[in-house]
Amino acid sequence: MAKKRNSERVERPSKETIQKAKGIFKYMRPYRGMFVLGWIFLLLSASAGMVFPFLMGQLLGSGESTTPSMADSIKAIDLNNVSTVVLALFILFAAQSIFSFFRVVIFTNVTENTLRDVRKDAFSRLVHMPMDFFNQNKVGELTSRVSADITQVQDTLRTTIAEFFRQIFTIVIGIAVLALISWKLALIMLASVPVVAIVAVFFGRFIRKLSKEAQSETANSNSILEESLMGISNVKAFTNESMLVRRFTTAINHIRRLNVKSGLWRGAFVSFIIFCVFGAIVLVIWQGILMTQGPDPTLNSKDFFSFIMYTIFMGASISAIPDMYASIQKTVGATENLMSIINEDSEEELMTGELKPALSGKITFENVQFAYPQRSDIEVLKGIDLSVERNQTIALVGSSGAGKSTIASLLLNYYPLTGGSIVFDDTKIEGIDVTHLREHMAIVPQEVLLFAGSIRENILFGKENATNEEIIDAAKQANAWEFIQSFPEGLETAVGDRGVQLSGGQKQRIAIARAILKNPTILILDEATSALDSESEKLVQDALQTLMQGRTSIVIAHRLSTIRSADCIYVMEAGQIAESGKHDELIEQHGVYSKLVQLQTVEHST
Ligand SMILES: Nc1ncnc2c1ncn2[C@@H]1O[C@H](COP(=O)(O)OP(=O)(O)OP(=O)(O)O)[C@@H](O)[C@H]1O
Ligand SMILES: [Mg+2]
Repeated sequence: MAKKRNSERVERPSKETIQKAKGIFKYMRPYRGMFVLGWIFLLLSASAGMVFPFLMGQLLGSGESTTPSMADSIKAIDLNNVSTVVLALFILFAAQSIFSFFRVVIFTNVTENTLRDVRKDAFSRLVHMPMDFFNQNKVGELTSRVSADITQVQDTLRTTIAEFFRQIFTIVIGIAVLALISWKLALIMLASVPVVAIVAVFFGRFIRKLSKEAQSETANSNSILEESLMGISNVKAFTNESMLVRRFTTAINHIRRLNVKSGLWRGAFVSFIIFCVFGAIVLVIWQGILMTQGPDPTLNSKDFFSFIMYTIFMGASISAIPDMYASIQKTVGATENLMSIINEDSEEELMTGELKPALSGKITFENVQFAYPQRSDIEVLKGIDLSVERNQTIALVGSSGAGKSTIASLLLNYYPLTGGSIVFDDTKIEGIDVTHLREHMAIVPQEVLLFAGSIRENILFGKENATNEEIIDAAKQANAWEFIQSFPEGLETAVGDRGVQLSGGQKQRIAIARAILKNPTILILDEATSALDSESEKLVQDALQTLMQGRTSIVIAHRLSTIRSADCIYVMEAGQIAESGKHDELIEQHGVYSKLVQLQTVEHST
């Protein structure tokens, strides 16, 4: 809880942060013409806005002119005539609404265009990130962070910047006009109103912080309550009731203290507002009235009303500025986040292999060592030697966590090796262009993940431009056509989020169809650990047999019955190869493999 509160606090962005955040301007450059136009409309509407308090004041103060009004020199409109002032006001409103309309539309346009480009780049960066990036960043956090950052930048570009400018403009022009109307009164006003307004803003923030603390403490006490009730059987079994009541009491006492404290400050705030803010306003009005009265008035009453209107406008602007400033600071941070994702090194930049050799499917592992970058002290593979010839099938078996799926990841060049080498034909993996390499491979992964969309779209993942016949053919070979056809919508059936609307076996067969469509030189099958019923297993196995024909296959198997015919079986134990050979040879050795086979046969017969 405490941590969350800290991260919410806006920190002053460093120079470096600002430098990085400036990257966003690159995205705005194509729309700069439009942006400038937006600023012109902003300037126009802000200027029109500044005439409003003046006219309002003239209207309110009309009827009792004793001294010449400031505006009497303007002959274009007769400000002594109420109806002309009203007419002028309406013309002003009309102008301002037109300017504001274009300002909003143009700023929105620029923002949306810019953000579309940023989003596109961020997404394309993300999908090109090396695997390790995804180990380091939680996907959920990443997506929520990116979308929160985008929203923050969107708000700022679309409105906050314009508003911020308008407020500053109002204050600067306001002070100038006030000084023009009466510099004496302006000085009195400036010495009181802005000071009070700013103190009020910080006072308000402080109080909000206090009540936030109380809120999070309340959340804390609620979680005690919730946990106690959810785990009530544990609480009772351990006779922890009174301990929990004590903990809860401590928490709620703390809440009481915090709330009482914030109540005290709120009370002080209310008195402050009543006394100081109104006091300051009354002081200014009093001084103003003194100037408009007497035998020698120095201020026209219309101007005096204009003065008050400007003061009100300025007061509002001043009190709006701190929050806007905070929001802009937050945006700088959010922009930096986005830009740092965009500037992160992608796979293409990290993997410098450029060779595009013809890959026949011959693969050799020479003393391959590997540790995941995130856990570099744990060696997952401790010197693996294996080889597979073109069109051969090898099998990897072994206990859970032995490193089988890791080998599949290394074949796809997801991670750099820690030692040794993987050689395709005669080319080391580091030298090969990573896209070229992956284009020659297909994997049916341990856990099939389908994309929300239709079955057709999911199969097409193997080959973007496949014809309808090719898709159906692949589905047939994958033993998937029958169940696809049984759906009323056939290939167009939606699979649901991550494929939840399909069974495990069906998902696997779609993954197989996808791999068949890709027609790879090298095929990697990471057999699912979750057991299928024997009928779907047979369907999946048959489909896999079809798929394995005429290409190099690396099969990671949990059901040993499926790999009897493999050209070589490698038995892995804790990152090493314990045994290797054909099925019959390994059975004769009476080693690990033969034990595993025995165990599985017993399991099946019981
Ligand atoms: N992304 C990762 N980051 C760090 N360590 C990992 C990662 N993936 C796997 N490991 C670790 O590497 C080791 C080998 O994992 P691997 O997935 O290769 O095992 P496996 O042989 O495929 O097991 P199973 O039969 O259960 O699928 C395990 O100890 C695992 O904890
Ligand atoms: Mg695995």
